[in-house]
Amino acid sequence: MQDIQNIVILTGAGISAESGIATFRGPGGLWEGHRVEEVCTPEALAHDPDLVHRFYDLRRAALANVVPNAAHDALARLDREWSGELLIVTQNVDDLHERAGATRMLHMHGELNSALCAACDTRVAWRESLPPGSACATCGAEALRPDIVFFGEMPYRMEVIERALSRADLFVSIGTSGAVYPAAGFVQTARYHGAQTLELNLEPSAGSVYFSEVRLGAAGVLVPEWVEALLTQA
Ligand code: OAD
Repeated sequence: MQDIQNIVILTGAGISAESGIATFRGPGGLWEGHRVEEVCTPEALAHDPDLVHRFYDLRRAALANVVPNAAHDALARLDREWSGELLIVTQNVDDLHERAGATRMLHMHGELNSALCAACDTRVAWRESLPPGSACATCGAEALRPDIVFFGEMPYRMEVIERALSRADLFVSIGTSGAVYPAAGFVQTARYHGAQTLELNLEPSAGSVYFSEVRLGAAGVLVPEWVEALLTQA
């Protein structure tokens, strides 16, 4: 790992698994008892807003019962101590990276603790349950929805992510199955721009072959080891 200045890290559900948050593509293919199309599409929101809102209310409430694990802590340490550029891009909608102390990060698939006005696009921090028809404080429309990127919608901050990937010397993917684009394609973008690429995951992801190095194991073990080695060598 020589000549590394700029790092981009992509995280997925696997990094929060050891905190007790279920991953998406576990055995059975159901997410908390639902097919993902039932709760994670614009059509589902239009067709059954009560179900979709209740589902995310439960996920939001569940955040109170979980804490960051050693992998989140290690990335927060890297954020504090790394003098080069760093961007942590998470696909997760939990808040465990920020609760661990990471700041150089963004949520490309949205956040449980945020509501989005479908009428005027205003975002507002939201910690409670969010009944369908809740009014936007900015425009007054009764159109607040969970601030989650549903299937078929454009992930957030793509220009920032693309720019960071184009400058990256090292791209690291942690705890993601590589099943959902555009995140699954970041490894190829980073490689195209000359970055080293490292996967840290429990099992090989769908895109494992694109990584220059793959380490298999639990994020709570692999991530602290990797961060320690990187900071010691730097
Ligand atoms: P997945 O559930 O598809 O994949 C989780 C990955 O984490 C799998 O490859 C597991 O092997 C791995 N894993 C599980 N436990 C782990 C551990 N302790 N340490 C390391 N790795 C572990 O979740 P994502 O790839 O994050 O989108 O899913 C991507 C997107 O699909 C999500 O952001 C979500 C979903 O639809 C939206 O909500 C928009």
